[in-house]
Amino acid sequence: MTEPNRTLWTRRNLLKSSVAVSASAALPAWLKAGQLASGFRVNVTGTDSLRAHAVSRGLLYGAAVNPLLLDVDGLAAGSTADPYTQLVVSQANIVVAENAMKWSALRPTPGVFNFAPADRLLRFAALAGQRVRGHNLCWHEQLPDWFNTTATRDNARNLLVEHIQTVAGRYKGQLHSWDVVNEAVDPKDARPDGLRNSPWLGLIGPDYIELAFQTAAATDPGARLTYNDYGFELDTADQTAKRGYVMMLLRRLKARNIPIHAVGVQSHLKAEGPQPGVGLQTFIREVRKMGLDVYITELDVNTRGLEGGPEAQDYAVAQVYRNYLGLVLPEPNVPVALTWGITDAHTWLNESKDQWARREDGARQRPLPFDDDLQPVPAFAALRTAIDSSRPLVAAPAAAPAVDPNTLYKPFRVQGSPTTSTQSPLPPTPHVE
Ligand code: G3I
Repeated sequence: MTEPNRTLWTRRNLLKSSVAVSASAALPAWLKAGQLASGFRVNVTGTDSLRAHAVSRGLLYGAAVNPLLLDVDGLAAGSTADPYTQLVVSQANIVVAENAMKWSALRPTPGVFNFAPADRLLRFAALAGQRVRGHNLCWHEQLPDWFNTTATRDNARNLLVEHIQTVAGRYKGQLHSWDVVNEAVDPKDARPDGLRNSPWLGLIGPDYIELAFQTAAATDPGARLTYNDYGFELDTADQTAKRGYVMMLLRRLKARNIPIHAVGVQSHLKAEGPQPGVGLQTFIREVRKMGLDVYITELDVNTRGLEGGPEAQDYAVAQVYRNYLGLVLPEPNVPVALTWGITDAHTWLNESKDQWARREDGARQRPLPFDDDLQPVPAFAALRTAIDSSRPLVAAPAAAPAVDPNTLYKPFRVQGSPTTSTQSPLPPTPHVE
């Protein structure tokens, strides 16, 4: 594997933009010393990778990926030259499909499942020795077009149960965790329980959440079952209120003995404005008392509204990474952190046409640890430093083991799909000379 990810960080590069990064005059400790000395180059592979550093602290670090961009056959043959594939292999020890496991991706018609992209991710991760998160089994967004005309109060329970049994059943025993229910809380809908007026709530009632978790647990007892949500990281009035409703939901599930193991805190943060603080820290400690872990599931940093060029963005984004992960990763029940993408070349913030994702100067967003050219940016250093500061070493950082495809990838049995005849075939077992 080549080692392309060396870059030059100089004090001038980081600070030449005049901008609104008021703290830039006083550099934080994690960007001082050697890292900013002229000529310093950072190595990001092998024992210097995020992956190696995460393993050395007993953490999982990973990223959302698009399986169709991964050179799985090249990886299986031990000869991939694709830089994106190399980057994901070298940096992550857990991955999640950004879109490929959502209803709309899996179910083009009511009777047909398209598992090909999701299967591809499983095969990739097995080759790379990575864990996989499932995202997601029940959400109000990205439902297929046919859902609106097909789902009724009479069939919605069966539809949800059958979907979970088919999808979680297919990957049974293979996943680290499932986002079983995604984004079920929205105080703006003004219900006393804080739940969102989603299609699932309208068709089944509030107990759709219990039904989803119970079905997932019965189908894949080995997966860590997660409730995943956004917009409750800050100590603003809105987000504090939402955090309260999420806590109310968690207490309800625990009181009913519903199998749930973790809360996903998505962590789509902004460079400007209030930052997460004591409220989130208290929440993490409270859910620990309830026996729950917290996973950072979708971290990235939006710089809309922040003036200045790429260097200013990089500096501000890195500060958010360092402060945020410095707050949450030392908590003992936070063993997992994923960024929503790994390179700015593939991030929803650059793909979205929505105004809140677009920078006023028209520049591309730089929300992730690697830039458009797959080169590390200061957020990489911030992330790695936060990992290193989070907890004691459990092992010295070591390079990922060499991959033997024949020992890592094992085809799995297809379970219970109602559409066996239309399913895409399982990927072939890789053959290596
Ligand atoms: O696949 C179609 C393609 O065929 C079509 O040509 C194209 C035209 O716009 O659209 C493609 O689908 C898009 C899909 O991403 C794949 O690129 C959808 O329009 C677009 O809405 C979808 O956006 C995704 C969004 O979730 C909605 O599912 C983003 O990539 C994805 O990053 C985002 O992820 C969510 C998490 O699942 C939940 N938490 C928030 C997070 C960010 O919104």
